[in-house]
Amino acid sequence: MRAARPLMLAAVLLAARAAWRLRKRRRTPAEQREADARARMAGRRATDYALENIREEERAHIARELHDDLGQLLATLRVDMSLLTQAMTATPVDEHTRELLAGMDQRLLSAITSLRRIASNLRPHALDEGGLYFALQSLRNDFEERHGIPCQLDASESALVLSDRYSTAIFRIVQESLTNIARHAAARHVRIRLRRHPGMLHITIEDDGRGIHQADMDKPASFGLLGMRERVWAIRGDIAITGSARGTTIDIHLPLPE
Ligand SMILES: Nc1ncnc2c1ncn2[C@@H]1O[C@H](COP(=O)(O)OP(=O)(O)O)[C@@H](O)[C@H]1O
Ligand SMILES: [Mg+2]
Repeated sequence: MRAARPLMLAAVLLAARAAWRLRKRRRTPAEQREADARARMAGRRATDYALENIREEERAHIARELHDDLGQLLATLRVDMSLLTQAMTATPVDEHTRELLAGMDQRLLSAITSLRRIASNLRPHALDEGGLYFALQSLRNDFEERHGIPCQLDASESALVLSDRYSTAIFRIVQESLTNIARHAAARHVRIRLRRHPGMLHITIEDDGRGIHQADMDKPASFGLLGMRERVWAIRGDIAITGSARGTTIDIHLPLPE
């Protein structure tokens, strides 16, 4: 009886394999085309995901270079400028030179501010420093400050402890949504809500602006929305974008690994 068990198991396995082969052979041409298309799509998603990872890594690298290299250089220049200004208080200089120096210092300060902004767009410093919740808070504060539109962030820190892959994707999606709101919506309020459910994260970004139209979403050069969709699909989530006279809503469900 005991010896028969492995034999039986082998027979079952062989039968299953034969059945599988038979099913495979019996695919109609239409089924085969569909299966091929599905395999191609899965392959494309995997490539997109790999490419996106490479892009994110490169962005992080450039951000570090900008910050460590050019940032340091500009900071040193500013120190030199203040030393020069101090030295000049001892010697009489004409008003024009004094104004020139003050202007140079001002432009240096703007260069440092721009560089910080560009570097933090490339790789959000806040993500490395304090995680996704902190990074979203900085994004929100920056948006309110720059555009004067109140933005509510409804989320909890503990719900947003996620892997770098998810954190970066979510950060980029919210970033693009806020850029779009500032550019296109003419909104008076914005609300970003993130809720964690078992195995799933639900994200809603709402504004009370003019409302997105179907034609807007079909624009051939609408890479912002396209990028957002690709990011969501790459982590097997779904995204719905709807617009009405009351504004635009972006609704995203992301399955989370347990
Ligand atoms: N929150 C929004 N409210 C109104 N219109 C929007 C909003 N977001 C996007 N749109 C519309 O959708 C279009 C496509 O957006 P996007 O793909 O990000 O491209 P871009 O911002 O470069 O124009 C925008 O040009 C705009 O007309
Ligand atoms: Mg855009």
